[in-house]
Amino acid sequence: MADPAQSPTQRQAIEQIETYGSHNYHPLPVVIASGSGAWLTDIDGNRYLDFLSAYSAVNFGHSNPELVAVATEQLQHLAITSRAVYSNTYGPFIQALAELCGKEMVLPMNTGVEAVESALKLARKWGYEVKGVPEDAARIIVMDGNFHGRTISVISFSNDAVATTSYGPFTPGFVPVPYGDLDALAAAIDEHTVAVLVEPVQGEAGVIVPPEGYLAGVRELTATHNVLMIADEIQSGLGRTGSTFYCEQAGVVPDLYLLGKALGGAIVPVSAVVGNADVLGTLRPGQHGSTFGGNPLAAAVGLAVVRLLQTGEPQAHSRELGAHLHARLATFVGHGVTAVRGVGLWAGVDIDPALGTGRDLCERLLTKGVIAKDTHGQTLRLAPTLVITKDELDQALDALAEALAEARAAAGLG
Ligand SMILES: Cc1ncc(COP(=O)(O)O)c(C=O)c1O
Repeated sequence: MADPAQSPTQRQAIEQIETYGSHNYHPLPVVIASGSGAWLTDIDGNRYLDFLSAYSAVNFGHSNPELVAVATEQLQHLAITSRAVYSNTYGPFIQALAELCGKEMVLPMNTGVEAVESALKLARKWGYEVKGVPEDAARIIVMDGNFHGRTISVISFSNDAVATTSYGPFTPGFVPVPYGDLDALAAAIDEHTVAVLVEPVQGEAGVIVPPEGYLAGVRELTATHNVLMIADEIQSGLGRTGSTFYCEQAGVVPDLYLLGKALGGAIVPVSAVVGNADVLGTLRPGQHGSTFGGNPLAAAVGLAVVRLLQTGEPQAHSRELGAHLHARLATFVGHGVTAVRGVGLWAGVDIDPALGTGRDLCERLLTKGVIAKDTHGQTLRLAPTLVITKDELDQALDALAEALAEARAAAGLG
């Protein structure tokens, strides 16, 4: 297939974007014009299997026909009202989402980081008003290597220098501990701790699955010390790992679920904090909000997403094809790959530095019709849509095997 980086039309489109757009991303050299199911098509008509899925926002495929039909229908009637009035799609959405989570209440927002910010505010409010922590003394424990988004408060507890440099001063009140270390967590909890914020699987860090028993240990420690457990399932949730939430596989029910990305069905941004009335019920009118959060269009699409998940099909597909993905990836170790990990249709693949960077490999993959993205230098993270077929999955894995073989040959490693 043609290398999109060599196409004059694509180069021209990229030049326009790089001239007028802020350079806060380093995109692959391809200009996408359409998407359908597991596939993306560029402006020259070249097709690619999407192995990034917009960081798991596209779990149910591009232009999912059921979701597009719901959105199109809703657009004929009403899209935006703000929450100054009630809308008829909002109630069914939040009831269905609360039930999916086994919780009592939903606070809808738009982007993932807004759900995280909202949960931090809720945890502090709960701490002061319910737990009885002295004003301004609340502490929230966070994990090393976390990624929860890009606002000032959220990067205040990031330990990625790229995300934090030149953005201080930062928001106080966060206590970092190593991910996966229950002793460190136990030692960090004190009477002012209101919450522990954890990604059940650390996505941006390289698809890091915590040790067996870790999340159960977090649940036990937080319950014992009257501390909220906040599970950021924005990337790990909604089918990605083979269950609705990764917490389920760990046998854990957190106090708050944070959801986003795929909740918007790859159509609109929809995020939410889902929990019980003891926490969400602390909010009174005016104390928190969002003009677009819970809007009629978002609610209609969000409800359709919940209905898809209620069938259990995306989760089962992710489990079944995920087993195949991981079995095949394991055979790459020692052949240009130093380690693989992950769960369901989600994998982190560490590329041997002798072959070049993760980015180098992504550029090779692009010319073979696969879009994947690197993280932290050497890691490829693979997250196909959950509508991918076994044949399509094999096609992409064959392309990865070829790309690795080429990179090894180029590096003189045979
Ligand atoms: C675990 C997690 N939380 C929060 C976010 C932030 O979501 P958004 O980019 O929609 O603000 C992300 C984004 O990658 C994420 O992976």
